[in-house]
Amino acid sequence: MAEMDPVKLMKQEVGRAAAARVESGTVLGLGTGSTTAFAVQFIGDRIAAGELTDIKGVPTSFQASVLAKKYGIPLTTLDEVDTIHLAIDGADEVDPQFNLIKGGGAAHTREKIVDGLAEKFIVVVDSSKLVDQLGSTFALPVEVLPMAIAPVTRALTALGGTVDLRMGIKKDGPVITDQGNMVLDVKFEAIAAPAELEATINNIPGVLENGLFVGLATEVLVGEVKDGQATVRSL
Ligand code: A5P
Repeated sequence: MAEMDPVKLMKQEVGRAAAARVESGTVLGLGTGSTTAFAVQFIGDRIAAGELTDIKGVPTSFQASVLAKKYGIPLTTLDEVDTIHLAIDGADEVDPQFNLIKGGGAAHTREKIVDGLAEKFIVVVDSSKLVDQLGSTFALPVEVLPMAIAPVTRALTALGGTVDLRMGIKKDGPVITDQGNMVLDVKFEAIAAPAELEATINNIPGVLENGLFVGLATEVLVGEVKDGQATVRSL
């Protein structure tokens, strides 16, 4: 049998570990991305096996809704529930204080709403996502109203960022978010003060939300592969 790609294997095992943390009766924030997709699949497997009952999922994207339906996780909305007990979501970078960059899948606006409401927020990543300082490897995604792209680009450049309008793959032109907006990817040399930068960027007129998640994560599960064997550790 062909060996699984190590990164995919890490994502699968960390998704499985997160799914194992879910208890019956949970209102669950369903994150977006390829790692969370494994968690959703394994949660669905546990529901199908009768191990988990009374689960309600709050999706963070069209992707999360589609996967929840595929794997048999009942969905609800923030109009219908007061509390999210647990959110499970991926990240593009994680620093030692559990601050995150998210939005590689352009879903960070809804993700921040759902993950931010959760009593517990478990981040699921492979080990390549751990960094000493945010901004080291990944550009910061910023969701912007289309009519404000030019002034917001100027404002982000003035803050020291190198700004790129995110373009679609298998779709000509820019990526359009689930809310009908565009995404600017902003590369900073390093992000020394994430809370301040998060607030400064969100204060630019036309910005919906940026991908800095500061002080929201309560646990980080990290998938690693050593000698072909996948392990998961909790930070
Ligand atoms: C979605 O917009 C993102 O925040 C994802 O959660 C993040 O990009 C992690 O995705 P992967 O699990 O696919 O790496």
